[in-house]
Amino acid sequence: MRAYHRNKYQEKPLYPCEPWNITEDSFSVETNHHNEAIFSLGNGYMGMRGTLEEDYSGPDYTSTPGMYINGVYGSEEIIYPEEAPDLPRQSQTMLNLAKWSSINLYINGEKYDLLQGEVSDYSRSLDMKKGVLLRELTWTSPGGKKIFFNILRFLSQDKPHLGMIIYKFKPLNFSGHVLLKTRIMGDSTNYHHLRNKRELVVKDRGFQGEIEYIIQKATSTFIATGMACRNVLIPSNEGVIISKKHLSSEKGLSVEYELNVEKGKEYSLQRYLCVYTSLDLGLNIDFSELENKLKNKLINNLNIAVEMGDKNLLKKHTDYMAEYWSDVDVKIYGDLALQQAFRFNAFHLLQSTGRDGRTNIAAKGLTGEYYEGHYFWDTETYIMPFFLYSRAEIAKSLLMYRYHNLDKARKNARRVRLDGALFPWRTINGEEASGFFMGSTVQYHINADIAYAIYQYYNTTKDKDFLHNYGAEILVETARMWIDHGGYIPLRDGKFCINEVCGPDEYKPGVNNNCYTNYMARFNLQWAIEVIKKTAEENPKAYRDLKERIKLEEEEIDAWQKAADNMFLPFNKELGIHPQDDSFLYKEAIDVDAIPSEEISLVKHWHPLVIWKYQVIKQADVILLMLLLGNLFSLEEKKANYDFYEPKTTHDSSLSPAIHSIIANEIGYMDDAYNYFMMTARLDLDDYNNNAYQGVHTACMAGSWLALIKGFAGMRNYDGKLYFNPCVPRKWKGFAFKIKFQDRQIKISVKRDKTYYKLITGEEIRIFHKGERFLLSAGRGIEKSNF
Ligand code: BGC
Repeated sequence: MRAYHRNKYQEKPLYPCEPWNITEDSFSVETNHHNEAIFSLGNGYMGMRGTLEEDYSGPDYTSTPGMYINGVYGSEEIIYPEEAPDLPRQSQTMLNLAKWSSINLYINGEKYDLLQGEVSDYSRSLDMKKGVLLRELTWTSPGGKKIFFNILRFLSQDKPHLGMIIYKFKPLNFSGHVLLKTRIMGDSTNYHHLRNKRELVVKDRGFQGEIEYIIQKATSTFIATGMACRNVLIPSNEGVIISKKHLSSEKGLSVEYELNVEKGKEYSLQRYLCVYTSLDLGLNIDFSELENKLKNKLINNLNIAVEMGDKNLLKKHTDYMAEYWSDVDVKIYGDLALQQAFRFNAFHLLQSTGRDGRTNIAAKGLTGEYYEGHYFWDTETYIMPFFLYSRAEIAKSLLMYRYHNLDKARKNARRVRLDGALFPWRTINGEEASGFFMGSTVQYHINADIAYAIYQYYNTTKDKDFLHNYGAEILVETARMWIDHGGYIPLRDGKFCINEVCGPDEYKPGVNNNCYTNYMARFNLQWAIEVIKKTAEENPKAYRDLKERIKLEEEEIDAWQKAADNMFLPFNKELGIHPQDDSFLYKEAIDVDAIPSEEISLVKHWHPLVIWKYQVIKQADVILLMLLLGNLFSLEEKKANYDFYEPKTTHDSSLSPAIHSIIANEIGYMDDAYNYFMMTARLDLDDYNNNAYQGVHTACMAGSWLALIKGFAGMRNYDGKLYFNPCVPRKWKGFAFKIKFQDRQIKISVKRDKTYYKLITGEEIRIFHKGERFLLSAGRGIEKSNF
């Protein structure tokens, strides 16, 4: 039984298959938690879960309201049972901030509640084209009052500090008294991870004219966050508004409107939001001054937003989305469920990714608190390639995030007595946030993953400025780490070995010579040498500055060369495979297919010591190497490795199937290629792992894109040259996508029998189709046979 037979992808989709929307057509307590994640909105700066505007009266465990700002975190001491020299001391947890979206409505004292009375004509729909969430429904109160709601919300992509809710309602069978109440509450807490439930304190709150503002401060990190809201009620004439009250309590603020409504008339409450944090203003100012600055910034910007008005704000946001889709949209012909999933994934990736060089993308984006809002290697290995070919500026800002945290990575290297820099395995602020070293902080390969991402970025953009002024420094410091960590081992023929690491397969921590790590470290060293030479030639000033800044010596470069030339590269002649590490082949093999489904994922059911002793793999490791450095391995080697490792893999990480799909594609295992691909695309939408309520799986989302583009389209980018090897799975008619590459935009449309390449913008370029090099001229299309 292959891993994908355990998967639920063959079951019916949870949402109707629509090209641009995700729609829930009835409300239920059972699906509420999952939908909160699915209907999350975000703009890279902030994110909010799809929690209802009105109070939810279902059981607590079926709802986790969440409002997050990328990069805003709390911290507490990591408690170890024993002395733990040099282990990280402080955790980092993305904070759940003030809930600003609360709106309640009462008709003659009856509170609107989806779980009371009757609901009809219900729909909640995420419109991905426009980037808005729209709810429409008719509610009949237990007392028989009928009211229609149309509630739209969005967080502006164009103006990341702004967002709004447009809350419309129409009394259908009554006229009379309605009470409308908006709230912003500062008593928010995290649902997971933080022990200190009082982490956030309200430092200031109040009204300034019509504006409500609240300033919260994290007691551990001193990060202050400010939110301001302003309601605009339409119509606002006196006959409608009987009274308006501004109420303030220790926890927050509310505004209450008593309204005299008329049957059949529409009323609209526009609730504008503005958010800023102390991180936006620079931390080095004294707190009292900061509070005022924050407040002024909020109020000024909120006023600008209100002046712009809902239509303008929304238009700018939807224009942004239209531009995004025009470059990023992937078309899948003949499978609407997949088409929908691709858009959903591309939408959430945009929503979750910080684009300011200061923030990054968390494993769960801004849609949930799992993994504490931490950024991992997921960024460089899975998510950055997704942006690289359509929004290279986002890819760059993700790399700049690493550059800005290089000093902390240097410190992290010293923690484990290493030279150079060691990037943290899990982090928000750039410091290592994981107290777990087995299978976690020992994944030093993250250094090489970042080096590889710089290579990909440069090959795609030819951005020399980045390479000389930022990339080079990261490469030197990561290379230094490898040289210090590895060593020449006499009983290994004097080869350069890298011991005590964990590769991508977290089920094999603390191993020697993890094949992935050694190859990638060698790549890191070679690429560092190349970039240093390039910088010296192309930008002598940048080179001199760099040398001076980080005291780079010529002998160091010789040492990198020597280590790269002598790197121990595992290969087993008898089996014709690349051993995952020194010990893997000597472990007991088990029948992974025979493990009962209830015990998958193993990490949740088996003691680590049990997992470690078997030949059982969590996720693509050698197989990932076959993709990233694929030009170093023959097809036979890839096939042999796949045949050996794939049956031993449980895919307990959602990062795994996409990579298997790509390699299966390359070696011609088309059923595997399709089935593994299908494990990725709708993972969150159809909740294959029953855990999407914790937040979406951003790396897997990007993985589905990788599996299509690098798998079915067979795209590779080696040394700045583009290769395609396209095919179409039996069940589809074809697919199409655009990429930006070295100042050009190319459209690729793949049909069963042929592929059509068109250069949309930029100068002619030579690319490869199934091994044949051909010229793609400006404005012209070329058709190539797929056989
Ligand atoms: C995977 C890691 C990944 C992390 C966050 C883990 O389950 O094994 O490779 O970085 O999840 O997505």
